[in-house]
Amino acid sequence: MANQPAMDTLLVDKHVKYIQSLGENTDDLMYHMTAHLRLNAIYWGLTALCIMGRPDALVKEDVIAFVMSCWDDDEGAFGAHPGHDAHILPTLSALQILTIYDALERTDTNRLVTWLAARQTPTGSFSGDQWGETDTRFSYIAVQALELLGRLDVIDKDKAVAHINRCKNFDGGFGATEGAESHAGQIFVCTAALAILDRLEDIDQPTLAWWLAERQLPNGGLNGRPEKLEDVCYSFWVLSALSILQKLKWIDSDALIKFILSAQDPEGGGIADRPGDMVDVFHTLFGICGLSLLGYKGVGEINPIYCLPAEVTKRKGLHMNYQVLGKGEA
Ligand code: FPP
Ligand code: ZN
Repeated sequence: MANQPAMDTLLVDKHVKYIQSLGENTDDLMYHMTAHLRLNAIYWGLTALCIMGRPDALVKEDVIAFVMSCWDDDEGAFGAHPGHDAHILPTLSALQILTIYDALERTDTNRLVTWLAARQTPTGSFSGDQWGETDTRFSYIAVQALELLGRLDVIDKDKAVAHINRCKNFDGGFGATEGAESHAGQIFVCTAALAILDRLEDIDQPTLAWWLAERQLPNGGLNGRPEKLEDVCYSFWVLSALSILQKLKWIDSDALIKFILSAQDPEGGGIADRPGDMVDVFHTLFGICGLSLLGYKGVGEINPIYCLPAEVTKRKGLHMNYQVLGKGEA
């Protein structure tokens, strides 16, 4: 234990090396077991690298070539891995990666816009693929993807908002479908979608912010629903919504920063869902995003509405109306 790095700081070099190592063992079982998440994982890793100030730790042309190899030409959208069917989740990841690299012109944006518009159902909800399951996650993804493409005009925005509002509960939160219980992940997608659609006034803001602030447990970590265990990824799902509602101060930030840092792997790098568990790139990104929103020194700004580096969304002239602790404060 003599040379173990202290856990009271973000171990940037370790996390950069951890993310770089993820694509290396392609004959490893874990690599194949996570194929359905490949494009998402590259977006998570690249975004984490960007806000740690190390975007060049991945080779841009290699990443873009991999993204393009996931194109499903039968459908006109992206699958998670070469040869996989198109789905809205990897399609957003592909568009986010290409946006970070300012390379959207590499793809067939007209076909993508048509495919995304076709995901909207007559009730205003969105399906993830051609098979039809709907979820408020897919509403958010379609709205963000179309905004990145500058083509929000192709959907019925009022119907999209009306559907999200039907998924709102008496506690101020939102669920995946009508009548589904409030969940911090679904609250993030609904709040961020309403922010992009300029309809934040539809949210019961004090009730929702109260529900979100109650997610903090005595050990500083946040959970996603009442009675659940704390989990580092909720540092993003909860804080992003509070940031959009300008209520980040309702969280004890020192306690949460300590919790996130304590879930790092001091040897191999990466962040786990909670201290002592196995790290993964998903919790690594969302832990670092939490630190970013809390104004942790040395971490660049994340725009919580898109979960993209703020410098990227600024360059594209996207929505920037959110709070980051310490920014603009005396
Ligand atoms: C919790 O997941 C998180 C959610 C339900 C939100 C997921 C959001 C997306 C996929 C939209 C795209 C996201 C970004 C950042 C651009 P979980 O299944 O781990 O929940 P659990 O803790 O209940 O298992
Ligand atoms: Zn988690």
